[in-house]
Amino acid sequence: MNLLAFETSCDETSVAVVSQGCIRSNVISSQVDLHREYGGVVPELAAREHLRNLLPVAGEALRLAGIAPGDLDAIAATRGPGLPSALMVGFKAAQAMSFTLEVPFVGVHHHEAHLYSPWIVGDPPRADFGAFEPNLSLIVSGGHTLLVHLLAEGRHRVLGSTLDDAAGECFDKVGKLLGLPYPAGPEIERLAESGDRRAYDFPRPMLQEANDDFSFSGLKTSVRYFLRDRPELLDDAKARRNLCASVQAAIVEVLAVKTLKAASRIGVRCVTASGGVTCNRTLRQALEQGCRRSGLRWRVAPAGLCTDNAGMIGILAERKLQKPAASEALVEEVLPSWEMDSLQTNGF
Ligand code: KG4
Ligand code: ZN
Repeated sequence: MNLLAFETSCDETSVAVVSQGCIRSNVISSQVDLHREYGGVVPELAAREHLRNLLPVAGEALRLAGIAPGDLDAIAATRGPGLPSALMVGFKAAQAMSFTLEVPFVGVHHHEAHLYSPWIVGDPPRADFGAFEPNLSLIVSGGHTLLVHLLAEGRHRVLGSTLDDAAGECFDKVGKLLGLPYPAGPEIERLAESGDRRAYDFPRPMLQEANDDFSFSGLKTSVRYFLRDRPELLDDAKARRNLCASVQAAIVEVLAVKTLKAASRIGVRCVTASGGVTCNRTLRQALEQGCRRSGLRWRVAPAGLCTDNAGMIGILAERKLQKPAASEALVEEVLPSWEMDSLQTNGF
């Protein structure tokens, strides 16, 4: 099967060609430069930019895979969750293409696709579902922080999520306080490398609470008050590096400790992670070392598959299409607030 997948849930326009569990092309056009001057994603601008980029990106994905539109057997797109106007661009274009080419269409849950991205390995990237085992999955991005128990392929249960800001949002908002460009996560990581993570003691929100939820807005607020009381630190390069290292340490400790605690409580033997924040090497190391100490297997996708991309959408869509596609797929609408637990949990 040759499948064309579209992802436009936030600020990445991405189109991929997937054939028999292999990602043959995965083109990502990022809009970060456009949104940077506003300090975050502006939904109307994101939708307009998706409209502008979608066909060139799709054409490039087909060209790189050496596939003509007539060779396609199926089309897929992210149906939700995400920004309504942004989702609509990719989803409606994909439905139109499916109608025109008379091939099946499937709408995919964005987070469900993140759950399976750690099982994509190699070059070219290929789904390794033969190795699949029940696991605990941390999805951690600019919009979401979720802990999900995968009981089997296609069967999952959300254990916890953030009550306010996502972890990536916390990196971005702390970056804004420091005057760093959006998205600030990568720059905070870079500055933290030469900083002292013990320099300042920031709160570890909800670390000791007996649940799997997160909360990061209090951490951001404590950084705001800290800088309000010591504005001179903003002009001190060493203090800025120490601040980045200390904030990063707080976020990473909460994410890693709560993930490992949940894994041990539910008794899985494997932990996985995905989403933009898993590009952070300190977080990867903390999870990897924690898993090693606890005798757990650890899986994370390469950075290019951790962030939003259509390749992961296509891999999951192909799996779903092995079952007959729902006949009403072409009249479905986007679901911007789609809850993962509302998905059928009876396998693919
Ligand atoms: O998954 P993603 O590309 O997009 C969504 O938000 O859905 O994640 C982007 C988020 C941003 O908040 C960005 O600051 C954060 O991931 N991020 C990082 C790093 N790279 C990206 N945060 C910390 N360290 C990084 N190296
Ligand atoms: Zn995502």
